[in-house]
Amino acid sequence: MYEPIAWFFKPYDHTITDNVLENEVGALNIDNNLVNGERPSNILDFWFDKGEKEYHEAQKPVSLLKFLINLTTRENQVVLDPFMGSGSTCVAAKLTNRKYIGMELDEKYFDIAKMRVEGSNLTYEQKEKRATQLAIFEKR
Ligand SMILES: C[S@@+](CC[C@H](N)C(=O)[O-])C[C@H]1O[C@@H](n2cnc3c(N)ncnc32)[C@H](O)[C@@H]1O
Repeated sequence: MYEPIAWFFKPYDHTITDNVLENEVGALNIDNNLVNGERPSNILDFWFDKGEKEYHEAQKPVSLLKFLINLTTRENQVVLDPFMGSGSTCVAAKLTNRKYIGMELDEKYFDIAKMRVEGSNLTYEQKEKRATQLAIFEKR
């Protein structure tokens, strides 16, 4: 499966260097985000980690989002996902020491996102147990 990724940022003042110095956005941190020791190409190949549970039909792998967040932001900056679905972006932001804001229209996915973010430091086995508990709770 393939999906395009577009990268936009603003403001953009003068040069990229000026922009990074003044606004702390607008540059790719390539040196710290090599793929198999190489500079990343414009084709990224990521898939779900073993045991990563899928909750949403359009869910993205947390590993991909961690890579993109590390590539385009610095620690403690704010990552906004206005269409967060199952919350993968917020999970990735938390795991990469960024602040995060997520918005989701569907209450079911909002609850799943909240559960995933709160449990993002747990092992996959612990997450699986929490998800099962949530599913039982929802049925009642
Ligand atoms: C493509 S999915 C996001 C999937 C997410 N990246 C993940 O990994 O789970 C888009 C989400 O946006 C939500 N959505 C659509 N319109 C919205 C709106 N106006 N405000 C907030 N969320 C919205 C949908 O309910 C859907 O869950």
